[in-house]
Amino acid sequence: MKKLSVDIKDVKSTVSTDDIRKLDNAASEALDKVLTGTGAGSDFLGWVHLPSETTDALLDDIIATADSLRQNCDTVVAIGIGGSYLGAKAVIEALSDSFASYRPGVAGDPKVLFAGQNIGEDYLYELQDYLKDKRFGIIVISKSGTTTEPAIAFRLLKEQLEHQLGVDEARKRIVAITDAQRGALRRLATEEGYKTFVIADNVGGRFSVLTPVGLLPIAVAGFDIRALIDGAVEMEKLTAAPDEANPAFLYAETRNALYNAGKKIEILVNYNPKLHYFGEWWKQLYGESEGKDKKGIFPAAVDNSTDLHSMGQWIQDGERTIFETVISVAEAKHEKLIPSDESNLDGLNYIAGKHVDEVNKMAELGTRIAHCDGGVPNILITLPAIEEKYLGQLIYFFEKACGISGYMLGVNPFNQPGVEDYKRNMFALLEKPGYEKETEAIKARL
Ligand code: PA5
Repeated sequence: MKKLSVDIKDVKSTVSTDDIRKLDNAASEALDKVLTGTGAGSDFLGWVHLPSETTDALLDDIIATADSLRQNCDTVVAIGIGGSYLGAKAVIEALSDSFASYRPGVAGDPKVLFAGQNIGEDYLYELQDYLKDKRFGIIVISKSGTTTEPAIAFRLLKEQLEHQLGVDEARKRIVAITDAQRGALRRLATEEGYKTFVIADNVGGRFSVLTPVGLLPIAVAGFDIRALIDGAVEMEKLTAAPDEANPAFLYAETRNALYNAGKKIEILVNYNPKLHYFGEWWKQLYGESEGKDKKGIFPAAVDNSTDLHSMGQWIQDGERTIFETVISVAEAKHEKLIPSDESNLDGLNYIAGKHVDEVNKMAELGTRIAHCDGGVPNILITLPAIEEKYLGQLIYFFEKACGISGYMLGVNPFNQPGVEDYKRNMFALLEKPGYEKETEAIKARL
């Protein structure tokens, strides 16, 4: 199997091989904590062997459930937020035709839409308006089963589905993915008799894309989840040993060396618009895992060459606190050559006959060199192609590197205490029962 690779030669102007080698011990210890469960948050390491432990029975069940939704629906709405949303969104966007969202979904090939990832009144109004004459289904995903954003979306869409189809038919088109026992969603699913999948206790939201959380929506969108898991299994094997042949080890120690050298912001760069949501997924994975105890690399992302015309100036010439991690896709899926034009008024004949991707690759190389020259080191990740198996590799690679990197930084990579603060204030402002004291305190500040 071809595989993802990591190249760090373009960081050497900022950190030397010695600077990186000095972190070998710390990286080995961190990897050991991930593999042996001896670090902070070790009850959330269920993702480490998840790919190799995924059973055929589970995949069969997910695929059968997806097939049933595909046959009965022209639209399936996946409801969830954060780790219960971004992984599926990233994979589906990466593998889909770029214009799929403009085509009507049909039974057998439904459109997958998302809700519960925001609290936009207009978004929900417009979604419900769109669904008025659709044969739609719902996958509602919440590990805790209590998150406000997806709960609001589910309440609205459940009511709409029941109104459009009747309660009994609606039940057949709702699948819930949640904790085995706890939470309001589990209670509701049990009472209503929905088909359910379990999110294991030991897999945190942002590490859950290779569980039913990501796999079911991806299968509903028509993609090959077995190949996705196969790619992840391959990467699980490749990232087991504490050496440079382990791409996750190399990436984790290099980004920590850069952080120690004052590079506090990491920009994940793609040159393929299909990877936009991978940037969003990656930002959550690293931001929520590492940004704590007043530490952590700030994760940002750009889509090039688009953003070279917006963020390019800052990256080339702004404050020198950044480094880049570039995801380069070796092969485009389709072929498109630049035509020759007799009049050549646009002056493009010098690239006539070339693949569009060749021009893109020169933009990528030229930018990497310019950024390096401008004091922005870059780590290069090469992905053979945008296909399920390589995306499986990429997902697991980033997850493993995140665990190693978080431990190297000295934080618990698997909790997210800071996320609770906004919720407490929101509940206090909304006067949620049980928050009376907080309500009084926050109102006194307004
Ligand atoms: O990574 C995490 O744990 C979070 O981003 C959660 O995935 C997110 O808050 C959604 O939580 P839940 O699935 O419990 O609704």
